[in-house]
This record gives sequence, structure tokens and C-alpha cells, in this order.
Amino acid sequence: MTFAPEWLALRENADAQARSTELVDVLGKTLVNRTTLTIRDLGCGTGSMGRWLAGRLGGVQHWVLHDRDPRLLGLAQAGMSAIENVTAETREGDLTALTAADLAGADLVTCSALLDLLTADEMNALATACVEAHVPALFTLSVAGRIEFDPAEPLDAAFQDAFNAHQRRVVDGRRLLGPDAPQAAEEAFTALGATVRTAQSPWRTNADALQREWLKGWVGAAVEQEPALAADASDYLRRRSEASAVVHHVDLLALPGVA
Ligand SMILES: C[S@@+](CC[C@H](N)C(=O)[O-])C[C@H]1O[C@@H](n2cnc3c(N)ncnc32)[C@H](O)[C@@H]1O
Repeated sequence: MTFAPEWLALRENADAQARSTELVDVLGKTLVNRTTLTIRDLGCGTGSMGRWLAGRLGGVQHWVLHDRDPRLLGLAQAGMSAIENVTAETREGDLTALTAADLAGADLVTCSALLDLLTADEMNALATACVEAHVPALFTLSVAGRIEFDPAEPLDAAFQDAFNAHQRRVVDGRRLLGPDAPQAAEEAFTALGATVRTAQSPWRTNADALQREWLKGWVGAAVEQEPALAADASDYLRRRSEASAVVHHVDLLALPGVA
């Protein structure tokens, strides 16, 4: 699965508006008195998470940017290195192989719009790696599988159910978490004794370019999953492109070893 930089750019502003600043405030209090913060951003894409978070955390930071797509890593490194007091390096490869030893010395592990792409086992392994390395995790914008259109219409539920089933599909023998990711992440960290806080981080779109582009993928995936929806798809897509939408996501902050 590859992600076009143009798509990541289109969503960056909505992502920035959506992520919870409340969780960053809580996180910030746990990071006081540290000199250079080392932050690992998993599935960094073009670096949207870093561009959003670096200024909010402040101070001198070193970002280690993980992705398997070298083109995105190049864009992320260039963007992050341009931020004052920030240095960046890249790690190309499969982030699901990361262990506690790999994360040792980090002050924070972050991700954004990633967890739906993992399996339950990969989610558990990632949470274990963070907790065993005693590193806080700020995992943002995990899709919750709930869309509210205004005006609503009867077909919304059928398309939403089909899309969610598509997100839970098996890819190369891996069953993806899709919209189950927020709950899986919360359960994984809680079982490991971390203190977990979550916050809603919805996109709020109103017939804009992001909504039109996102809807094309959303409706297309629903039809791929449930071909019987094809007959309604193009009229439905047109009507939904003219509605407003709340696309629900969840942010999670897990602090290891804090009672
Ligand atoms: C939806 S994009 C989000 C990118 C970025 N975090 C953002 O918010 O704009 C998911 C990113 O995770 C990367 N990715 C997904 N699974 C991965 C894996 N197993 N190992 C490394 N990178 C992965 C993809 O290449 C992509 O850049």
C-alpha cells in the first residue's frame, strides 16, 4: 500500500485542526527538564506529525523518521530539518519489526494515521516495545469507522459498513485492524500497565476538496467490498460530496509505568 504525497498534503490541514492539543499538554508536563528530545515518528509520510508537534513541544529536538517509502522519507527529512532547533534522520524499513531495544533512548514515539494499517499482533508488539522501552506514545488520528453526514441519508449506514469491512480485509495474509485500531491500541497499552488517555480528533469537512477526494476512496472501497452498492455509488458520491461530514478519529497518549 503506497500513499501519494499529494494526498498527504491535502489532508495535512484537516489533520492539524483535528489532533488533540489537550493530550500534548499532558505529554509536555512529562517531558520537562529534558534537553534534546529524541522523537521517533512511525509511518511519518512526508512529516505532517512532526510539522504539527515540533513547535508545540518546543526546545531542541531530534526526530527519527520511520517509513518504508523512501520518497516520503526524503520529503519528511527535508521538511523537518527546515524547522528551527530540529534535526532529523530517516530509517527506511518495516516499522512492525521495531523492538524495545530499537526504541531505547527515545523520549517519545509518535504516529499519525497509521494504526488502522496494523494487525492486532503488530499493535500489541508495538505497544510492548514502547512500554518495555519506557517511552511515552502519542498515537494520533486512528480512524474510528464512524462518519456523520449532514444531511444524513439511509444509504450512509450501508456504505459505512462496507467501507469498514474493507478496512478490516486481509492483505498479504495480514488481517488489518481498520476501525478497530483505537480500541486495540487502548487495550494493548492498558494491559501492559500504561496510563492511557484518549481524545476525539474528528475531521470536520464541508463539501471541500479534501472531502471530495476522501469520499472517492471511501465510496470506491465500499463498492469493492460490497459490489451490490455499485448501482447507487455515483449518485451517492455526488450527494455526499455536497454534504458536510464529521469523520471520527481517536488520539491516544500512553504513559508507561505511571500509576
Ligand atoms: C496514512 S499514511 C500517514 C502518513 C503521516 N503519518 C501523516 O499523518 O501524514 C501511513 C504511512 O505509514 C507508512 N507505513 C505503513 N505501514 C508501514 C510499515 N509497516 N512500515 C513502515 N511504514 C509503514 C506508509 O508508507 C505511509 O507513509
